[in-house]
Amino acid sequence: MQTTEHEKRVAAQAAAELVEDGMSVGLGTGTTVAFLVPALAARGLDLRCVATSPRTESLAREAGLRTERFSSVEHLDIAIDGADQVSPDGWLVKGGGGAHTREKLVAATADRFVVIVDSTKLVPALRPPVPLELLSFGLASTLLRLEVLGPVRRRDAPRTPDGGVICDYLGPITDLRLLAGRLSTVPGVVEHGLFPPEMVAEILVGRGGRAERLRPEAGGP
Ligand code: 5RP
Repeated sequence: MQTTEHEKRVAAQAAAELVEDGMSVGLGTGTTVAFLVPALAARGLDLRCVATSPRTESLAREAGLRTERFSSVEHLDIAIDGADQVSPDGWLVKGGGGAHTREKLVAATADRFVVIVDSTKLVPALRPPVPLELLSFGLASTLLRLEVLGPVRRRDAPRTPDGGVICDYLGPITDLRLLAGRLSTVPGVVEHGLFPPEMVAEILVGRGGRAERLRPEAGGP
């Protein structure tokens, strides 16, 4: 197995160890979460899981994890998910797989949001692209409003399970909080892929054969 894949597995296994019997668990999306699902199932705990994508839902069911529809869930004990980039102060870029809207909702519902990454995801500063999910209704006008902030490219990707159109913001990223706020206030933007540090309880980074635990609130990775 390549180093990166091994580091993903190590981070995922460390996260699986954080889960306790009887917990409700949000499952993210992506190749790192694909290592988490079997590691979690192997623990043999009594869990209720919510998946953030059809792909994760299938993986979870195949592994024998009990999944629930998120529409009827008010609270989760923990959510575990990957990320595309992690900045030194704990900001994330997510949505490489186009699932960031559901991922942000599930993370926001959890008492504890744990991020699992391989060491290549740690970057000195976040860089574009920043994934966006846009409402298809009024798409052309939404894209025009976004162009004021910077260039946006429509991704060659299927619609999300919620009917959204996935695009990528390619403009400058200087002030993250300002950009996150501006993207959020553009009518037609369902969600963007910037996750602030206050959403994140901890970050588990696979590095070599071990998992390092980083806490954004303790001064960043
Ligand atoms: C999907 C995501 C993923 O968490 C992110 O893209 C990381 O994926 P991977 O674990 O495959 O590197 O945000 O929308």
